[in-house]
Amino acid sequence: MSEDVQGQTTDEASESSESSEATIAVHWREEGYIPPPPKFIGQANASDPAILDRFAEENFPECFREYADLLHWDEYWHTTLDTSNPPFWKWFVGGKLNASYNCVDRHLAGDRNKAALIWVPEPEDEADAVITYQELYRRVNEFAAVLQDLGVQAGDRVTLHMPMVPELPVTMLACARLGVVHSQVFAGFSGGACGGRIADSGSKILITMDGYYRSGDLLDHKVKADEAVEAARKEGQEVDKVLVWRRFPGQYSAKTPMVEGRDVFVDDLLADHKGAVVEPVSMPAEAPLFLMYTSGTTGRPKGCQHSTGGYLSYVAGTSKFYQDIHPDDTYWCMADIGWITGHSYIVYGPLALGTTTVLYEGTPNYPDAGRPWRVAERLGVNIFHTSPTAIRMLRKVGPDEPAKYDYHFKAMTTVGEPIEPEVYRWYFSTVGKGEAIITDTWWQTETGGFIGTGLPGLFPMKPGSCGPAALGIYLDILDENGDSIPKGSGKAGNIVSRAPWPGVFQTIWGQPERFVSTYFEKYNKDKDSTDWHDWPYFAGDGAVQSEDGYFRILGRVDDVINVAGHRLGTKELESSALSVEEVAEAAAVPVVDDVRGRVVEMYIALKPGNEASAEIEGKVKTAIETDIGKIARPKNIWIVPDMPKTRSGKIMRRVIASVSNFTDVGDITTLANPEVVDKIRDQVQSAKRAKGEEPRELSETEEHEIKTYGEQE
Ligand code: WTA
Repeated sequence: MSEDVQGQTTDEASESSESSEATIAVHWREEGYIPPPPKFIGQANASDPAILDRFAEENFPECFREYADLLHWDEYWHTTLDTSNPPFWKWFVGGKLNASYNCVDRHLAGDRNKAALIWVPEPEDEADAVITYQELYRRVNEFAAVLQDLGVQAGDRVTLHMPMVPELPVTMLACARLGVVHSQVFAGFSGGACGGRIADSGSKILITMDGYYRSGDLLDHKVKADEAVEAARKEGQEVDKVLVWRRFPGQYSAKTPMVEGRDVFVDDLLADHKGAVVEPVSMPAEAPLFLMYTSGTTGRPKGCQHSTGGYLSYVAGTSKFYQDIHPDDTYWCMADIGWITGHSYIVYGPLALGTTTVLYEGTPNYPDAGRPWRVAERLGVNIFHTSPTAIRMLRKVGPDEPAKYDYHFKAMTTVGEPIEPEVYRWYFSTVGKGEAIITDTWWQTETGGFIGTGLPGLFPMKPGSCGPAALGIYLDILDENGDSIPKGSGKAGNIVSRAPWPGVFQTIWGQPERFVSTYFEKYNKDKDSTDWHDWPYFAGDGAVQSEDGYFRILGRVDDVINVAGHRLGTKELESSALSVEEVAEAAAVPVVDDVRGRVVEMYIALKPGNEASAEIEGKVKTAIETDIGKIARPKNIWIVPDMPKTRSGKIMRRVIASVSNFTDVGDITTLANPEVVDKIRDQVQSAKRAKGEEPRELSETEEHEIKTYGEQE
């Protein structure tokens, strides 16, 4: 689509899109373009528009050779894309490679003493750890030897529940070296949530750490391992060994006792493997590299299975062209490796390209809002990657901080949630000092890497839009009948990817039917077809596409709430609340929040004979923290006399979502109990006002999400 916007000045472009949009749909206001700074274009990995032709649809799927050729293959593949068993696509079939070799060994020849990882501990007086490629090689090999000694083999799953420490990428790469499938669970998740994922993946080994720093406290993390093992046991999965890394080797930072025979300190085991070298196992391209669990519409989380060859090619390619990573850059992604962003764009993508990737242990505003900019200045970070939630927060608590520090970014990324144009502009002018491009990257745990975003040297920025489809990706917006909604029509619909791509997940671990039904059934017209054209990937997000081809993501159309860029399943939250004895019904809804994007509010109806009380509220809160983790804690819990329901008994989530957001509840004539709406509104809104939570004007996209919330079940 570059021809749509290239050559236009910022003003012309915004004017023309404004007038064309205005005649069609007045309510999707368009923003003006910001051109990439010439200095950026001059050095960009993708600055020649010829790349767009190379990845044009007529060159699919062979275009993705360009990504795969960024890797070292032990054996080259014979089939780029095998579609014989749709929608279980296979990429680079016949090829063999090892991910650990690609991220570590092959950089030794030229870059042995270059920093691979720079780890910044949260306490500011603790020194950084600079880990060169040589040192990373040593650590990965020694830990791989530990795993080998425990009898772990290619194809086995191992669960990791680790914080942001260099031992986490070391552990992942050691698994990858052996062909072992790692499943890292975000450290902020509870022991219970980790246990559920251990059981689902069938892991016999849990790798954790004794403690880590978060907002100034050294947290006891080991306690969660005991809870996790217990929770897994309840689901029938025994954990034989818990390997405990120590935050300070030789010194135990947790209070929780080690369990004799089960728990072992990793530093003790490593002592027996000093200098060990473990041959990387050459794996088929389609062998699974890792599982990453995410929330869906049922309570059971989905273990998204990512491949070795396709995934690694895709994250290497997108890191090169979209993050604009050059080998001598210092790249910092502030996400957590416990999420897909950290896997793809802290560990695998940057290391595959042999660059220096920065890892930060703690919270961005610890001990103050200048912290990220001090780190950037000190380390000479020139590529910065974070989420709208972090940007909103840093802007709120320290709007003038960036100007106090002498750092210079060439490129910045935003990911995980829609970003408000106003926040975008602060990111551009204040954080980026007007010198850095911003890539707004739309993608998901399932997609492995970015799929909706513009090449930063070739496409102007447009605040609030992620941009066009990424290279080799063919996005479309479909209506409920599967018909394509033309761009510029101002109508929203479901965003789909018409074709497979190498980074797409292979299946849901142990639930292949759910993989097909959740992502492909909706728009598949012929389930026997082996033509990929018949299998669009349904992403579960609403979107609009403007005349220039740019997409604006409106948020989830399913029962997922995106809190601070983290997906929480409504059903997971609700089933946790329902585990409280007194609770009869529970409904979780999103509430727009200035910092976290969305927060959760939980509506509860009690079983007969129970009175609303602070005690029951407390029980619901504890249940959610225990089952999922503190990040899922609802902002408010409303115990209401009854839920608004349809005559068939379905809870009308859009109605309570509207009440919680002080917006119009819309049509309630189809409710079985319309009278309850006024009662709930009075109760909730007066309680909110009493707490100082005033109504806030919603943007058009926010209003769209709230007013249609839960309608797509
Ligand atoms: C949302 C995170 C708007 C979207 C990589 C998606 C976004 C979900 C963007 C996936 C963006 C992600 N603009 N919305 N740039 N990026 N989302 O699996 O709703 O944690 O479906 O992956 O986040 O979240 P997940």
